[in-house]
Amino acid sequence: MNVKELQPLYTADMIKQRITAMAADIDAVYGDEPLVVIGVLKGAFIFHADLIRALKKPHVEIDFLRISSYGNEASSSRTVTITKDIEVPIENKHVLLVEDIIDSGHSMRFLYDLFAMRPVRSFKTAVLLDKKERREVAVGADYVAFSMDEGFVVGYGLDCAEQYRNLPDVCVLIPEE
Ligand code: IMP
Ligand code: MG
Repeated sequence: MNVKELQPLYTADMIKQRITAMAADIDAVYGDEPLVVIGVLKGAFIFHADLIRALKKPHVEIDFLRISSYGNEASSSRTVTITKDIEVPIENKHVLLVEDIIDSGHSMRFLYDLFAMRPVRSFKTAVLLDKKERREVAVGADYVAFSMDEGFVVGYGLDCAEQYRNLPDVCVLIPEE
């Protein structure tokens, strides 16, 4: 794809403010109880890193998992698989899953179903972006930094064909006509 322009939508400062507020909410909910914060690779890696550093609570463990999602044209469904699972034990622990974007909702639905089968003490989710326009599965998150209607965004961990993850702002990618 030829890119015409990258328009900053959520700047690094705006993201920082939202994460500070989100971390304060999370601190208030869990208090001193241990929490495992699990990032979904790759898109959430920067959001995860910033969110855990904004937490003031003690006893934070981290881990990552990775999923891949591909379409099934015949049935217009999507198949989501785990390509890398977590490694820390989560039995009887509070888990906070950190994801980059909810778009169609298939990935998030898969993640909720996955952790519903695991013997955690509690399960909550935090997402950087809730994109509502193309939702196919009714699913949401407990903590949402930003909600947007339309547009494809990159930066702050989000990619287009593995490019732009390093941009400090979340930018709308505007393709050439
Ligand atoms: P869903 O299963 O359609 O909700 O897929 C969500 C995933 O698609 C996210 O975790 C992102 O990795 C990716 N995605 C969706 N929209 C965007 C976008 O605007 N920019 C970058 N990645 C996106
Ligand atoms: Mg993703």
